Amino acid sequence: MALSAAAARRTDVSAYAVGRPALDLTDQPSIGRTLFGMAPDVIVNTASYTDVEGAEKEPHLAFRRNTQGAAALARKAALIGIPIIHLSTVYVFDGDKPTAYTEADEPNPINAYGRSKLLSEAAITNANPNHVILRTGWIHSPFGRNFVTSILQRAKTESELHIDESQRGSLTYAPHLADAILDIAARITSDPNDGIWGTYHIADQGTASWCDLGREVFRASASRGGPSIPITAASTESMTDQAPRPLNATLDCTRLSDTWDITLPIWQDAVADCIAQINSN
Ligand SMILES: NC(=O)c1ccc[n+]([C@@H]2O[C@H](COP(=O)([O-])OP(=O)(O)OC[C@H]3O[C@@H](n4cnc5c(N)ncnc54)[C@H](OP(=O)(O)O)[C@@H]3O)[C@@H](O)[C@H]2O)c1
Repeated sequence: MALSAAAARRTDVSAYAVGRPALDLTDQPSIGRTLFGMAPDVIVNTASYTDVEGAEKEPHLAFRRNTQGAAALARKAALIGIPIIHLSTVYVFDGDKPTAYTEADEPNPINAYGRSKLLSEAAITNANPNHVILRTGWIHSPFGRNFVTSILQRAKTESELHIDESQRGSLTYAPHLADAILDIAARITSDPNDGIWGTYHIADQGTASWCDLGREVFRASASRGGPSIPITAASTESMTDQAPRPLNATLDCTRLSDTWDITLPIWQDAVADCIAQINSN
């Protein structure tokens, strides 16, 4: 949704969104039919099994879509000479590092979703040399269901929220990510060269806990007369029924800015924009 909205605002790219049933990552003929039919200059693969809790219970589904599905898509793209931009996640890391993760750090996923996404990266890399893998994290958006829209909804019926403060992450505002993906797609098609393929970290600037994000959301919401309730800091240790998540989910995005000259805005500005967009809908 954010990608289509961003593409609609630009004149340098034309984007066509395609998903199930026309293109199903688990249905190889549908991949071939769609790619041969559309013949795009570049593919952006945002399709994924993303349910972190669900992946623990049904890892075969996560692996089927995220690993085998991504491999099938990348193979078919390579066959007809189309580069692929693939989204991955900071959850490929274990979170034990005290500072932000760079692309040189060794992945070590601690949940099934992270393992399936790490294997998706290997599958893409092996299948198609012309790939850009973008590892991102903690996406929020004015569209659909995500942390920001969920807590604003809950504030309408609840008087206080308990939100985790033990995990720290790099927030990513979907419209910022979408613009960056389109910038990269435009550059790949106008000036492909060997130095650009590979893996990059991408996120808004700065880091936060979920608790910090919640407080910023309610601060921005209150400033526009929207819902706002108190937040009490909680810790993941008290949520033992959840799949493990990396305590440090922060990304160093230096390689992205060095290679593509792309630096995303500061996360608090993204939250302000997100609340403004939600209020204008
Ligand atoms: N959300 C985050 O915080 C976050 C953080 C880091 C990385 N990422 C990555 O960013 C990407 C997008 O995430 P998101 O949050 O936008 O995910 P999302 O809201 O769960 O959307 C996933 C999309 O994948 C599609 N999909 C699922 N299985 C498919 C299949 N077999 N064939 C074709 N399409 C299929 C879904 O289509 P249907 O509508 O048909 O189900 C849906 O449109 C993913 O690669 C994810 O791993 C997300």
